Amino acid sequence: RNLRRTMMCRSDVNMLSGHFLFIYDSLRPPDEEKARQKQLLSLLERLVTKEWPEARLYLYGSCANSFGVCKSDIDVCLTIQDAEIDKSEFLLKLADILQADNLQNVQALTRARVPIVKLMDPATGISCDICINNVLAVVNTKLLRDYAQIDVRLRQLAYIVKHWAKSRGVNQTYRGTLSSYAYVLMCIHFLQQRRPAILPCLQDMEPTYSVTVDDIECSYFDQVEKLQDFGTRNKETIAQLVWAFFNYWAYCHDYANAVISVRSGCLIGKQAKDWTRRVGNDRHLICIEDPFDTKHDLGRVVDKFSIKVLREEFERAAEIMQHDPTPWITLFEPY
Ligand code: CTP
Ligand code: MG
Repeated sequence: RNLRRTMMCRSDVNMLSGHFLFIYDSLRPPDEEKARQKQLLSLLERLVTKEWPEARLYLYGSCANSFGVCKSDIDVCLTIQDAEIDKSEFLLKLADILQADNLQNVQALTRARVPIVKLMDPATGISCDICINNVLAVVNTKLLRDYAQIDVRLRQLAYIVKHWAKSRGVNQTYRGTLSSYAYVLMCIHFLQQRRPAILPCLQDMEPTYSVTVDDIECSYFDQVEKLQDFGTRNKETIAQLVWAFFNYWAYCHDYANAVISVRSGCLIGKQAKDWTRRVGNDRHLICIEDPFDTKHDLGRVVDKFSIKVLREEFERAAEIMQHDPTPWITLFEPY
């Protein structure tokens, strides 16, 4: 475990990058998929505002954060001011309205951790989950999308990492591994740490965007079109970054003491957050601070079994990147 490597020593890095870019391109959704998503969103907006004129719909998650692969479902957040609403009742009524308009497989899951209505739209073939007033998710979706505008290597790296995590079965929060959202934050943090840095820390700059959600102030510099040159001094290729990412999580990260923090643009100590011991089900075995909801450790789902699985997968990936003749295949072999 103490074996640390400081550089990638392969003569085939350019060829490797070519293969990773090919995978990235084949995972990206085509433009017409975006158009179909918009079409479904407008239909839902029409149906919802007929009943609740003040309600608004927002896309969040991978359909809106620039890290979505093709043919994925969409996540919609319905916001409504009424503080009196009973979420379950509201979702049941919403389900009735949607069902009446020929949407299919409509189900209200009122007892889920995040209560939702699920549906499938026969016209576009897209499935959709609608949640209520989850505004923080809409705001963190914008943060991820804004980071993605700064340097294309973030999208490239995150697509490869998400694809690896899904292929290897380590993208299942119900089994103690990490969410896609957590993996994207790991990628952002990692690119903030490169020298020269590939990404800035937007929350550490003069805010140009600010909203308060559930008493949490969310503010950061969002004029990312002004940061187009930010990463250009760093010439690392996608193959080098994939190698360094897995090498970092396999051999360099200090799991015992460190918290990765996109909000601060650096590592912070577990001590400072009081994340040093298990509290309830939060074990803090790998610590990933949510950029806005800073009490939330996205690694809290990880337990003593799944941390082992995760670290072995990071090591496997690092070894493949170092020695395997065809990493673009072996990395993604089903587990
Ligand atoms: N989210 C969150 N807190 C979490 C997990 C998720 O706020 N602990 C929100 C984020 O806004 C995230 C969205 O829910 O963008 C969807 O999460 P997830 O499914 O993990 O990410 P996706 O980008 O949708 O990835 P996938 O393509 O795997 O669906
Ligand atoms: Mg999702």
